Amino acid sequence: MIDQRLLPGDFKILSYDQFQDVAVAIQSMVIRGAPAIGAAAAFGMALAALQSNAETKNELNKDISKAGFLLNQARPTAVNLSWAVQRMINETKGFPGSVSELRQHLLEFAKKIADDDVEINKKMAAFGAALIQDGDHIIHHCNTGALATVDWGTALGVIRTAHEQGKHIHVFVDETRPRLQGARLTAWELEQYGIPYDIITDNAAGHLMRRGLVQKVFFGADRVAANGDVANKIGTYMLALAAYDNGISAYCVTPISTIDFELERGDLIPIEERSQDEVLGLSLLGQPTAPENASAKNPAFDVTPYRLISAWVTEKGVIRPPFRRNLEGIKEG
Ligand code: MRU
Repeated sequence: MIDQRLLPGDFKILSYDQFQDVAVAIQSMVIRGAPAIGAAAAFGMALAALQSNAETKNELNKDISKAGFLLNQARPTAVNLSWAVQRMINETKGFPGSVSELRQHLLEFAKKIADDDVEINKKMAAFGAALIQDGDHIIHHCNTGALATVDWGTALGVIRTAHEQGKHIHVFVDETRPRLQGARLTAWELEQYGIPYDIITDNAAGHLMRRGLVQKVFFGADRVAANGDVANKIGTYMLALAAYDNGISAYCVTPISTIDFELERGDLIPIEERSQDEVLGLSLLGQPTAPENASAKNPAFDVTPYRLISAWVTEKGVIRPPFRRNLEGIKEG
């Protein structure tokens, strides 16, 4: 894993051989981004199978189910985590070979989950890039690029493909308080792709839209409810509200694995609360940015109601409202 806590200052790769450490890496955000933590959890499950001393497939299944329980606790909002864990558990059911063949199969299957992610992202990127015009100025929230996935990215993958198609685009990068995934990670990626950008404070987005300086808004998703409500990085809701008020299209780029068909609406999505230290720990000119005894509240995600979203870009095509009905068409297609 690239240690995303250290970027852009340091590029360091960490390796793990214990699933317990993978769970800690996900929780502490060494790795982050919904599809990336899904793939990491799948490899965590494969490690659990390799760590297990089980002599029967039944015992192995029990061991990896326990590992799945631990991995699932690491972060609650992104559904890709439990989706990947469940897919790994499903692979053990009815497996025809020996217990050592099953261990090998689980490793191969984790690799497949990772490889599929890249293929899916490229498909979404092709559909999404068709929504971008030459000359567009785009606001992007959080980090949804290669770092947040296995490669290429979701919303940032769309922007990257539009750039590769020769479209002249400019990205306004929401810095994305409190962990600054935009300023630290998205800007770092955009530099490597040669895409022009400016970092903006999250608070500046509405102002730029009112001034007519923005044509599109793109973001990813950590979980999409069956009605199209989107849980994504905190700040997405305010961004979508401002886009709606200014008649600017707001697009959510989401693989189908991020849609939670079991959840009727976004209010039911569990929202991760992270440590207040993430909010209070910043310093400015070497000085703390809050009084010593200040307390903070730190929800890591918010829910954007479907009515504020212009379209959802998936690997099967662009879903326009009404989401629920048009999603059915795409699932069957
Ligand atoms: O808390 P993070 O950094 O894991 O949150 C990630 C996001 O909100 C991304 O926008 C997202 O995972 C979706 S797209 C890859």
